[in-house]
Amino acid sequence: MGSFPNKKILLGVTGGIAAYKAAELARLLVSEQASVRVVMTGSAQSFVGPLTFQALTGNPVATELLDADEEASMEHIRLARWADCIVIAPATAGFIAKMRIGLADDLLSTLCLAADVPLLVAPAMNRAMWSSPATVENIRVLRERGIVLLGPGKGFQACGEQGYGRMLEPGEIVGKLDALFSRDHVMAGLSVLVTAGPTREPIDPVRYITNRSSGKMGYEVARAAARGGASVTLVSGPVCLPKPDGVVVVEIETADEMYRAVMDRVQGHDIYIGAAAVADYSVVETSERKMKKSDVAPQLLLTLTRDILANVAGLEQSPFTVGFAAETDDLEANAKQKLAAKKLDMIVANQVGGEEGGFESDNNALSIFWQGGNIEWGMASKKILAGKLIALVAERYSQWMTLPNK
Ligand SMILES: Cc1cc2nc3c(=O)[nH]c(=O)nc-3n(C[C@H](O)[C@H](O)[C@H](O)COP(=O)(O)O)c2cc1C
Repeated sequence: MGSFPNKKILLGVTGGIAAYKAAELARLLVSEQASVRVVMTGSAQSFVGPLTFQALTGNPVATELLDADEEASMEHIRLARWADCIVIAPATAGFIAKMRIGLADDLLSTLCLAADVPLLVAPAMNRAMWSSPATVENIRVLRERGIVLLGPGKGFQACGEQGYGRMLEPGEIVGKLDALFSRDHVMAGLSVLVTAGPTREPIDPVRYITNRSSGKMGYEVARAAARGGASVTLVSGPVCLPKPDGVVVVEIETADEMYRAVMDRVQGHDIYIGAAAVADYSVVETSERKMKKSDVAPQLLLTLTRDILANVAGLEQSPFTVGFAAETDDLEANAKQKLAAKKLDMIVANQVGGEEGGFESDNNALSIFWQGGNIEWGMASKKILAGKLIALVAERYSQWMTLPNK
């Protein structure tokens, strides 16, 4: 069997001399049993004809953004959703610049912007173009956004010069993809319990106290863990999100229900990831009937809810326990304090209340702390961050398992 069965790879071909090598890359990917769809820029078609890719992949090649014949003219969204990953090979200096600024003026650049799957870029250009300050800066920004660079290599170039900027050979790109995809199974054989979303603390049958958590981050974390090969249970507060495929979802409403759902199930799990925004307080006496509006504002007596994270981390046979901290200020100090006070193995902190990222957004920026280490990831989609987080948790978990008392 090939290395990439069922993998849906969108191959973007831009207008560099190395476009001819993309045909060999497409052939190799197909021989590894990937489903390959090719999207070409206008310039790329001056180097190689779409027919070559159509014949090699068995699929039509997409080239036009504004195609009135295309069903609903939404090819950029359809292809972006179809793909498991996007590989741009060759990626010209011009296309890299477009990606950096988010310019969407053709099909390939528009779908790169619309995609929230891993983006892999194989640059190919003259050595001076590669080392120009503009390209160096563009590459730095793409890297920071989590885009994976494949190469470039060093050697003789089509222009007769020598240096860095050559596109990696198709076989080398396939080898790198293989290594990256096998990292996808970082959690094979592990069982992971994730919590997500807000909780609702009732006041009466129609009113409740809650928070702004959308559950998006926790759902992406559960999805990424399942993609990583783990068996995943997701204890979810009330959210408006589709259930992740291959994940057991337990729906709860209150902090107390979440506590019980977690404590009943957590034994035997290898990893616990508490991404839910559990209410800190619940109402002491909830009214069974709707409270009538009156001229006097009611006084609500609140009580502390039970701390799920601290209880999980405090179990005699606790799983590797990861907490989330949403902070409006003093992010690092508060996160570290929570890490130590609750005896967590890792804490994932994010700033909330700002203009970007946080609770309801599709994007986030994360600062992650553990005993003796930390890492920061800039603003990116929650899906991308969840994939990186699961890889990091798997790495830390395997080190944690070697500790003497485990
Ligand atoms: C013969 C020829 C070869 C080229 N090779 C490259 C190349 O290897 N890398 C590159 O970045 N640009 C190269 N260019 C310039 C690009 O084709 C040009 O920047 C184009 O606008 C890129 O369009 P695209 O990125 O939308 O495909 C080449 C141009 C010509 C005429």
